[in-house]
Amino acid sequence: AVNLKGRDFLTIAECSEEEIQLLLDTAADLKKKQKAGIVHHDLAGQTLAMIFEKSSTRTRVAFEVGMYQLGGSALYLSSRDMQLGRGETIADTAQVLSRFVDGIMIRTFGHDKVEELAANATVPVINGLTDAHHPTQVIADLLTIQEHKGNLRGLKACFIGDGYNNMAHSLLEGAAATGMDLIVSSPNGYEPDGEILEAAVKRAARNGCTVGFTSSPEEAVEGCDIVITDTWMSMGEEGEAEKRLAAFKDYQVNEQLVKLAKPDYLFMHCLPAHRGEEVASEIIDGSHSIVFDEAENRLHAHKAILKCLLEKD
Ligand code: CP
Ligand code: NVA
Repeated sequence: AVNLKGRDFLTIAECSEEEIQLLLDTAADLKKKQKAGIVHHDLAGQTLAMIFEKSSTRTRVAFEVGMYQLGGSALYLSSRDMQLGRGETIADTAQVLSRFVDGIMIRTFGHDKVEELAANATVPVINGLTDAHHPTQVIADLLTIQEHKGNLRGLKACFIGDGYNNMAHSLLEGAAATGMDLIVSSPNGYEPDGEILEAAVKRAARNGCTVGFTSSPEEAVEGCDIVITDTWMSMGEEGEAEKRLAAFKDYQVNEQLVKLAKPDYLFMHCLPAHRGEEVASEIIDGSHSIVFDEAENRLHAHKAILKCLLEKD
């Protein structure tokens, strides 16, 4: 049977269709158990090290609470306080942590850092967000869409905003793998990474769906079941605020734009959100918004990732 035991979880693209399905099924099952008050200590006695080089609310809390609910524990390690922040190498850090813990989660800048950590660790490494990918979020997003719409295949989704962004990239990979159509719409100069887009286009074609890009937000939103956006200024890009606010001004998800979506469209955002920038308050605080269901599902999705990677036979 398909399993992810002992594996790393760095991008959605590295998972097969069956592995993504396993994660979604496991998440749904763990969610049901938690809601029913059923003890599920599948990772009793195990420990997860969590390295944060960037801020986090949801990712940190979901992994920490998740490990606790699975009978294990998690350590929050800020790179500011670690020797990593004073120049100890990623490779040495990976080897040392591997002697102490059962898994390592890292949130960092360059995706190459996660790859280097994974290459040198002897325990599973989980990508808790890099500049290029946010795969744990997208497992939660797919679970959320499935819960609300009953399926993924055949749905039409769009991502409006910064296409050269971890969310846009992981959503392209997630849609392509699950049979959901997805169009990314961004201004000039903020298109998705060419290689990621191209690989997703090919995988989508094999899976009977379409992913793609258009610079027109109206074209992207037309007839959509799911409308997604994310910040115009990701962590590390704060210095470009003025330039980005100008570049993205026609890409706000607002009442006028969502008129083009299906009448029962759903709005999603990984959060944190910036009302009045990438999304109008009426939309994120309105009746089509499922952003807090989406946030909650980080817990269930992360627990599924942890269980599938770390559970012993
Ligand atoms: N969506 C998300 O990853 O949130 P945090 O930055 O709060 O972890
Ligand atoms: N694209 C955002 C996501 C935050 C969860 C960022 O990288 O800051």
